[in-house]
Amino acid sequence: MSSEIEEPHRVDRLWPDPARDLELDEAMAGFTLPAPPRGRPLMAINMVTSIDGRAQIDGTAEGLGSRTDRRLMRLYRAAFDAVGSGAGTLRTTGIWLRVGDDLAARRSAEGRAPNPVELVIAGSTPVPTDGTWFQGDEPRVLVVGARNPMTEAPTGTELLRSPGERPDPRWVVAELFARGISSLLLEGGPTLNASFLADGLIDEVYWTVGANLLGTDALPMITPLKGAAPRRGQLISVLRHESELFLRYRFGPAGSIGP
Ligand SMILES: NC(=O)c1ccc[n+]([C@@H]2O[C@H](COP(=O)([O-])OP(=O)(O)OC[C@H]3O[C@@H](n4cnc5c(N)ncnc54)[C@H](OP(=O)(O)O)[C@@H]3O)[C@@H](O)[C@H]2O)c1
Repeated sequence: MSSEIEEPHRVDRLWPDPARDLELDEAMAGFTLPAPPRGRPLMAINMVTSIDGRAQIDGTAEGLGSRTDRRLMRLYRAAFDAVGSGAGTLRTTGIWLRVGDDLAARRSAEGRAPNPVELVIAGSTPVPTDGTWFQGDEPRVLVVGARNPMTEAPTGTELLRSPGERPDPRWVVAELFARGISSLLLEGGPTLNASFLADGLIDEVYWTVGANLLGTDALPMITPLKGAAPRRGQLISVLRHESELFLRYRFGPAGSIGP
């Protein structure tokens, strides 16, 4: 059993139905996803930032969130059919997209695959294949752009080549939907998030506001991108752990930022 669940993770639920001093797993027990939109998977992003909105400290996300945030990250993953990340994140820090033994057992008991399908989306540049992401039994898909020189991926990883130089988010989600994936959680990074936002492909955002004020020019949650479709969110829930906030927003159709 993972050490992450041996110590309890206490949270207050601030919204809705305020309640104090809950165990995080208990507070998340009712977490369910809405039905996917017609013809594509439900899309969510999960990110942690500082109070001033930076998604990196010294070039990585390490240190922005607490141990409780990392447990929450796994609880979110466990609700999804697939979990993905951009090649920039893989190159910077390596990634680990599994849910952990206890949540894998819970998913299995529900008749689901132990882990979500794992996805990395790259463009034209090869990704290093010696990292931990390429190990393990869960299904993995590496999406690459048309001109990416990679011709094969390590055993157990499917290499999926997109027709465009940079995989078009709409093409990616259509491919996944055709394989029966009806929910995809993206865990960044900010550049990939921006492309999905620009294509109107963000239905929910899980945002951890860590308690740091950084004052740096590090990447924000979503890099600025011309053509991003503005979205207005609805606050679905707020949990608090010590000085950290866990926010869940849901988004309607693109095009409106007014109240
Ligand atoms: N705070 C957090 O929660 C959090 C979460 C994740 C990551 N991070 C941090 O964010 C940094 C990495 O983020 P990043 O923005 O540099 O990289 P990224 O978003 O992880 O990946 C960007 C790369 O994805 C590839 N890509 C493929 N299709 C794309 C598309 N349609 N649109 C955009 N990119 C596409 C491109 O690879 P090619 O280069 O091959 O073209 C591009 O360079 C790291 O420091 C990481 O630690 C923070």
